[in-house]
Amino acid sequence: MNAIDYAVTVDNRPARSTTLEKCEIGRVGNPAAGAANARLNVASAADLMGLKDYVISENKAVVRNDPVVLALLRKSLNRTQYKLYAAQRAYVATNFIRLVDKGAGLAREAGDEELAAALQANLNDEIGMAADGNRYDALDHRQWKATYLRAIGIKADVKGFPLLSETRAHVNAFLEMEATGTMLSIAGTILSLENIIPLEYRAAVSSRDHLFPGIFCLSEKDDAESRSRKELARQYLNDHIVHDAKSHFPQLLQALVKYEGDPVAMREIRAGIDLVNTFRKQFYQGLGAAMQLAQRDMEYYTYGA
Ligand SMILES: [Fe+2]
Ligand SMILES: [Fe+2]
Repeated sequence: MNAIDYAVTVDNRPARSTTLEKCEIGRVGNPAAGAANARLNVASAADLMGLKDYVISENKAVVRNDPVVLALLRKSLNRTQYKLYAAQRAYVATNFIRLVDKGAGLAREAGDEELAAALQANLNDEIGMAADGNRYDALDHRQWKATYLRAIGIKADVKGFPLLSETRAHVNAFLEMEATGTMLSIAGTILSLENIIPLEYRAAVSSRDHLFPGIFCLSEKDDAESRSRKELARQYLNDHIVHDAKSHFPQLLQALVKYEGDPVAMREIRAGIDLVNTFRKQFYQGLGAAMQLAQRDMEYYTYGA
């Protein structure tokens, strides 16, 4: 039997415009560039790949091949479809903070101080804990998220709102990881998230600003009050693009590269990375199907919109 099994994805979409729009905070990499994108998708190839290359290539494979992420990037959704995305996306990893906390605790128990410190720093950011040891609402990512969702008419704190089955599956997979995951599989999941989130949110920001310019786009005509209202509404997505890519991902990667020489440890980390990609892929497929529903049926899944 052939030891190497090839899974090839070919992307022939035309190159997108690279023009920077006023409201975009950064240019999104060309998802296709017309080039064939072939990748080896087997354990033996993964074993040879460094951790950074593995997580980046696997995350990219999800976002670059997904029609919903591409539609977000290309601004081809309507407002109801965007709200459906935002509402469901808000719930895929509701236990994220607990997952980071669990990972940090397991790392402390195992004596991996470097990993514990990286996860603790991530956790402190999430809960708005500043360097002075105090927690501030204005720094709490959950507050940023609620403000963003409220700005487009979504009630983030509604209990029992309807989830698409793929969103529910993602939620459950993360709860399962929290309950049974090992230190390295949990760390792999968080590493994967910190890298995929900026890719996802760049696409989201593109549609957000296109569809709701009056809420999110800064203008010279804004008075001080509307400017600060817009800045608060923008903060959740915009800040995550920057801090996940510039802080959380590199810090966690730095703490995990020491496991590269250990194939057993690497398999655990990769299992954590793969969990994100498997369930994100399903999540976006579920969204894509739901976005074809009639307006009022879509609205049902935006709870409170
Ligand atoms: Fe965050
Ligand atoms: Fe983060």
